[in-house]
Amino acid sequence: MNRVKVDLDGSSYPIIIEANSLSSTGKVIRERVGQKKGVIITDENVDRLYGPALEDTLENEGLRFTKLVVQPGEASKSLSTAERLYKELAELQLHRDSVVLAFGGGVIGDLAGFVGSTFLRGLPVVQIPTTLLAQVDSSVGGKTAVNLSRGKNLVGTFHQPEMVVMDPVVLETLSSEDVRSGLGEVLKYGLVWDENFFWKAVDNIELFENVENGAGLESLISRCCEIKAEVVGRDELDRGIRQILNFGHTIGHGIEAGSGYGELRHGEAVIWGMIGDIWISQDRGYLAEETFSRILGGLTRLSLPSLPDDLTGTELLEYITRDKKVRGGVINSVLLREPGEKVDVEQVSEAELKDAWEFLTGLEVN
Ligand code: GLY
Repeated sequence: MNRVKVDLDGSSYPIIIEANSLSSTGKVIRERVGQKKGVIITDENVDRLYGPALEDTLENEGLRFTKLVVQPGEASKSLSTAERLYKELAELQLHRDSVVLAFGGGVIGDLAGFVGSTFLRGLPVVQIPTTLLAQVDSSVGGKTAVNLSRGKNLVGTFHQPEMVVMDPVVLETLSSEDVRSGLGEVLKYGLVWDENFFWKAVDNIELFENVENGAGLESLISRCCEIKAEVVGRDELDRGIRQILNFGHTIGHGIEAGSGYGELRHGEAVIWGMIGDIWISQDRGYLAEETFSRILGGLTRLSLPSLPDDLTGTELLEYITRDKKVRGGVINSVLLREPGEKVDVEQVSEAELKDAWEFLTGLEVN
């Protein structure tokens, strides 16, 4: 079992990472939040695979939770789904003390976190992430959101969970695309915070890619959570250093939007975005060519997803400039000067982004 603390002024909380722990999750929840009632918000896929195990452990602890199930996929991260959930919470007569369990991947974590943070001006939320991306990134740090038709995550809150509790063994049922998506975020931590960890994760790519042994991932996932906890502890509200976690996300968000959200998973697009960011870093002379090639070699140990083949550089730029992080037409990206050491958010030009796109589209996909 690994335990990581997210240390914040006034709202510190634990992240518990333990293989084969799903069937005893009820106990850790009861120990942390007490004998509360509340809801489990999950999706149909997670419910089919793991819903009964979570319900059993809660029941064994005498916790009364009602399950609310939404459809899987990004479309559920909407105000209309949130409204449906608010109505159900109201009908269940939840009160300020009731608890929301967010049981699923990134969509569920963001949606349930958003609903939990706004219903009755905020209920306690426990995150129980079930995808690699959610375990290493989105369940930690308190960002919640729903999408608007104009873009992703345009409405949201910061609402730190009471705790995050995860079982890496549930990753064994993920699709290879979902694993690769999570791996994008895993490798990101190495490049922005801990270069040794980057190479350790690269050396363990096969362990990740064939997750027949989720337990074997416990310590790698814990290291990601430690880094995320450290960064969030220094900048909870994303006004400074937390923004380095957007490494690969400027081009990545453009690719995601340009592929109509669905063709590529978030973390898959981020892998391409990271290659774009290191390309700009070496083009500016921040990274030596040799370092650039070494990192590129590490990133391409992953079998890269195909890029949307009809997306032009001009279209990509349009999608990038629509992103919520672009303020007053200034496009920022996260550039590396020393992997894992010297990383800065810097303004990038349209020409640099177009050149980076040309580089990406010319790369051989393995
Ligand atoms: N996913 C980046 C962050 O939480 O800041």
